[in-house]
Amino acid sequence: MEPANLIQELQQRMPQQRFQHVLRVTETAKSLASMHGESIEAAETAALFHDIAKFMEPEEMRELLIAHQENPLLFEFHKELWHAPAGAIIAREEFGVDREDILNAIRFHTTGRANMSKLEMIIYIADMTEPARNFPGVDELRLYAEGPLDQAMRACITHTVTHLIGKQVPVYPDSIECYNYFVK
Ligand SMILES: [Fe+2]
Ligand SMILES: [Fe+2]
Repeated sequence: MEPANLIQELQQRMPQQRFQHVLRVTETAKSLASMHGESIEAAETAALFHDIAKFMEPEEMRELLIAHQENPLLFEFHKELWHAPAGAIIAREEFGVDREDILNAIRFHTTGRANMSKLEMIIYIADMTEPARNFPGVDELRLYAEGPLDQAMRACITHTVTHLIGKQVPVYPDSIECYNYFVK
């Protein structure tokens, strides 16, 4: 699909505000990719698709995930987590994205995981630090994002896991494994 058509398609699938977030993540991811010798095109594709399933109806998302034999453990956790694997499925099935690394960057942009690829880290970090993100501690994360990717990722996942623990909500195993991996 031509980039112009993709942009149009994305715009139709989400409110304007979320679409602007997607564009900011894309710019942030492209700049991280150029800093760290990753493909700028891959970063752009992964970032553009990362939230494509964000506004699907939960039931529709659940059916899609079940049809693709996704881990049923997902359904025991907050539906906020579902849009990441659902987005990877949509990118592949509806838009023909076939590069595994791009699909994984979409799939793990919410939870993270152990042993992330460079592209996976770039999308995770870009999503969390894009310029309009505004939460306590984001400025420190932006500073980390100027340095080595693994250190930025460690700071981001520590922030996420700490935040979830502070709210006393369950933490998905991939995020715990991600945290353990990066602090080791
Ligand atoms: Fe997301
Ligand atoms: Fe996002």
